[in-house]
Amino acid sequence: MNKFLEFQKKKNKSKIICLTAYSKNMASILDNHCDLILVGDSLGSVLYNFKSTKSVTIDMMIEHSKSVRMGVKKSLLVVDMPHNTYRNNNEALMNAKKIILKTKCDAVKLEGGSKIIKIVKHLIKNNIPVQGHLGLLPQTHKGKFKYKGKKQAERKKILNDAKLLESAGVFSIVLECIETTLAKLITKSLNIPTIGIGASHYCDGQVLVIDDLIGLNPISVRFVRKYCNIDKVIYRAVKKFTIDVKKKRFPSKKYSY
Ligand code: KIV
Repeated sequence: MNKFLEFQKKKNKSKIICLTAYSKNMASILDNHCDLILVGDSLGSVLYNFKSTKSVTIDMMIEHSKSVRMGVKKSLLVVDMPHNTYRNNNEALMNAKKIILKTKCDAVKLEGGSKIIKIVKHLIKNNIPVQGHLGLLPQTHKGKFKYKGKKQAERKKILNDAKLLESAGVFSIVLECIETTLAKLITKSLNIPTIGIGASHYCDGQVLVIDDLIGLNPISVRFVRKYCNIDKVIYRAVKKFTIDVKKKRFPSKKYSY
C-alpha cells in the first residue's frame, strides 16, 4: 500500500507516532517505533543555539536530512522547508524539489494556512507531498510563545485554515500549541490525521522533539515530558572514561593492537 495511505488509515484506529531526528544514529533507533520522522527546523535552536528557527538555511536542512535518511527504513520521512524558502510558487517548487532530490525524503512540511494556500496547492499539483502546520508557527511568530485558540476569531481562523489545507491536498497537519477543545474539533472535522505537539491527546498522533523527550535539550515547556535523563547517562559514561584514561586502565591490551 502507498506509504501515505497507510499513514492516513491510522486515523480513528491507532495513534500515530512521530518524532524529530537530526542525524542517522538517532533516526535508526526511532525508526523502530515511529510512523513518521521529521527533520524539523527546530534543529536551529536545539543544535545551533539560534534564537529562533528563522535563521535555519536550506543547506542545513539538506545536510541533516541526508544523514537522517540513512537511518530511516520504514517511517515516512518529512523535512521542514525553512523560513523564506517558500515565499512564492516558483521559489517553493524549486526548493521543495531540491530538498526531495537531495535528501530522498517523502514529503515537506510548511507552516501556515490561508496565506500559503496557493503555494501548497502549487506544490501538490506538481507531485510534492505536503504536511501542513498550524497553531503556533515558530517561523513567523513574534513575542512570547502562547497557546492558540483562546479567542473565538482565532479559533475560527485555525479551523478554517485546517479545512483549506485538507482541501488543498496535504496528507496530514501538525497542530502546535492549540487549546484542547479546538484540537479536538479540528481532528473531528478532518479526514486526514492531525499530529499534535502541545495540542492535547485528541489529535490523531503526537510529535515531540527527541532531544527534549530524552533530556538532552535543557528545555522546560508545559507540553514536553522528559522520559529519561540521557544527559546524566552520558555524564557518568564520560566520567568513567576520564578516570580510566587517567589511571591508564583504558586502552588496555584488549583495546590495543
Ligand atoms: O521543527 C520542528 O521540530 C517541528 C515540530 C516541533 C513539529 O516543527
